[in-house]
Amino acid sequence: MLAGGIAHDFNNILMAVLGHAELAMVKLPPMSPARNALAEIITAARNAADLCRQMLTYSGRTSSALEKIDLRELVEEMSHLLKTAISKKALLNLNLDRDLIPIRGDPSQIRQILMNLIINASEAIGDRSGVITVAAGATRCDRDYLESTELGDAIPPGLYMHLEVADTGCGMDARTKARVFEPFFSTKFTGRGLGLAAVLGIVRAHKGALKVYSEPGKGTTFKILFPALTKEQEVARPPESSSLANWRGKGTILLVDDEESLIALGGRMLEHLGFDVLTASDGREAVDLYRKRAGEIDLVLLDLTMPHMDGGEAFGELRRINPDVRVILSSGYSRDDVAGRFAGKNLAGVLQKPYTLAKLTESLSAVIPDAEA
Ligand SMILES: Nc1ncnc2c1ncn2[C@@H]1O[C@H](COP(=O)(O)OP(=O)(O)OP(=O)(O)O)[C@@H](O)[C@H]1O
Ligand SMILES: [Mg+2]
Repeated sequence: MLAGGIAHDFNNILMAVLGHAELAMVKLPPMSPARNALAEIITAARNAADLCRQMLTYSGRTSSALEKIDLRELVEEMSHLLKTAISKKALLNLNLDRDLIPIRGDPSQIRQILMNLIINASEAIGDRSGVITVAAGATRCDRDYLESTELGDAIPPGLYMHLEVADTGCGMDARTKARVFEPFFSTKFTGRGLGLAAVLGIVRAHKGALKVYSEPGKGTTFKILFPALTKEQEVARPPESSSLANWRGKGTILLVDDEESLIALGGRMLEHLGFDVLTASDGREAVDLYRKRAGEIDLVLLDLTMPHMDGGEAFGELRRINPDVRVILSSGYSRDDVAGRFAGKNLAGVLQKPYTLAKLTESLSAVIPDAEA
């Protein structure tokens, strides 16, 4: 629990690092020699955020932001990072099918799965030479097949997209194989034994299943199955964030957060998007400010968990002042949780924390017209 608390605070710090680096990136001219260094900062901060999430996932304090994901794209985007994570002697092969059906999931958690499996594969190969293959494809699973997997008895037969990590390393005997998902089970000197426990937790949350093939001396394959999105599920998706890169708004936004670094970051992001920004550090302050200046405030971006008066209460007060107030709630909890809690209350949006510039733009563009258009 202590680790979870620290990871949570650390996550906020990383959000500030990442956010400012992204802002700097969009302000730099395309040919600037500083771009490479910034890109490295962003990658490193993302890795640190992934590690943080590892701790949060294990301590059960994670929340997930579900998106439509193409597994092939996800692996390709990560391939450079995967190469740097494995031993020099190991060769990385990608075997990714084209035209995969998307899945619905949390991209950072799926990256975390891939990272854990790749590192295990590399450690299984050790100092010898060997090959690691990452594959993505489609598998039609019937009941019998699902029965042969971990977690498969809880999910329906159907079409699944798979992610597979195979290595030619040391392999496992039956006794080891039976225990790999136990938290703190490790055969390694430096291992914490949390890698696969976290993988199992994530796969369960994605309503997927997984299967392990291993033979001592030959190697190991981990196959993860994710339910393929059906056509109906695919339709309900937010606008592509890339088309929003040039989106600009105008007006005044009241930004409310008790975290100073996030006020600074959010303020910069909003200014970059063309807004004037007012800030408040808790619900009470926000309500007082809104009472005085409601006429000039176009939207309130409200943090859910704050001291004195939390976001939920503040939202109620704001609505008493102006029933048509536009509020986007930002929260570390999952979007669906928050949306459920405030259903029917005319919320303008829910923004999952930590948010990036792209996510912030996406939320705002859904309620505020493009000032450039
Ligand atoms: N690809 C693999 N080949 C052989 N054994 C494996 C492989 N992946 C996992 N294992 C076995 O499963 C155990 C548990 O793996 P897990 O990733 O959960 O923990 P760890 O790698 O020991 O430590 P951590 O990932 O927390 O640093 C490993 O110690 C190892 O014995
Ligand atoms: Mg591991």
